[in-house]
Amino acid sequence: MSTLAQQEFCITLSDLASFMEIPPNQIKAKAEKTLQRKIKSPWLLPEEARQLLLAEGYKYPHKVISIQMLKGGVAKTTSVLNMGLRAAMYGARVLFVDLDQQANLSFALGVEDESLPVWVDVVEKKKSIDECVRFIEPHVDLIPSSLNNSVLDRVLLNSNRNWSLAVKSPLEKIKHRYDLILIDTAPALSATNTAVTVASDEVILPVNPDKFAFMGLQKNLSELEDIRSDFSLEFSRKVLFTKFDGREKFSHELLQKCIESFEDSLMKGYIRTSAEVKNTVRSGKSLYAGKSPIKADYDFVTREMLGFV
Ligand SMILES: Nc1ncnc2c1ncn2[C@@H]1O[C@H](COP(=O)(O)OP(=O)(O)OP(=O)(O)O)[C@@H](O)[C@H]1O
Ligand SMILES: [Mg+2]
Repeated sequence: MSTLAQQEFCITLSDLASFMEIPPNQIKAKAEKTLQRKIKSPWLLPEEARQLLLAEGYKYPHKVISIQMLKGGVAKTTSVLNMGLRAAMYGARVLFVDLDQQANLSFALGVEDESLPVWVDVVEKKKSIDECVRFIEPHVDLIPSSLNNSVLDRVLLNSNRNWSLAVKSPLEKIKHRYDLILIDTAPALSATNTAVTVASDEVILPVNPDKFAFMGLQKNLSELEDIRSDFSLEFSRKVLFTKFDGREKFSHELLQKCIESFEDSLMKGYIRTSAEVKNTVRSGKSLYAGKSPIKADYDFVTREMLGFV
């Protein structure tokens, strides 16, 4: 269980009002009518937000999305964390799957126990996938990672079974419980990440403004194309621009290059650089409880991911 306080995993009525483009004084009445109860707090629980949005005609996706980039430090974990937590606030049922042995996503969600079962235990049939799922907060579950997953690649490649299905097949058993399954990955081109791609309906590739970012992105995209044709897959891919610094010429140049190169594959929203972000992953504190300006950036890309824009 993470250490988040209730208001850190609930969406505020004022955020819902601005999302639904209705005046703040009308949102409470709307919510009270749908939920058939008096609302005293300034926020709604994830299940309540879900009921309200379903009543308003919004539909939740049913997708497995992985975040991948062979280059390290591009904000994979930060993005998966803040998009997943925000999606849950909008009422989506979210499962995080941490498949990076560094386990930063698990730490950020308050899970630091090396003795917990992880994916390699499922692949080796020592544990069932259900035994790996941890409850974090309402609408948020996690399959954690730990250093024990560092042998996962070797186990996959030495296995007699079809290792490419090592992520997809176990997920099939629990997929029906979630709207979004979000997989965080290690910065690598590995058997594990190939198996992740095989399980994905969508791959998000974060890119940030540094010298080798574009090169890394192109290499990763060509690897994904190979996997797509080798396994006859139909996943979509999205590029997410992160750590954009409006004061830096290079940020503008790279963003422009991404717009020209990727057109529809580039997510419409992008994430600005912010010193406060560091604290969210390290401390497990929700970005949404603070005043960071990039709250709005992650809110927008979350809505894009949900199909709510
Ligand atoms: N928008 C941002 N502004 C400033 N710093 C950021 C931003 N997003 C992420 N960071 C910082 O960049 C570093 C790398 O972020 P993160 O761990 O999310 O990257 P990653 O791609 O998951 O890394 P790895 O490849 O090691 O798994 C962290 O210190 C994080 O706090
Ligand atoms: Mg990471």
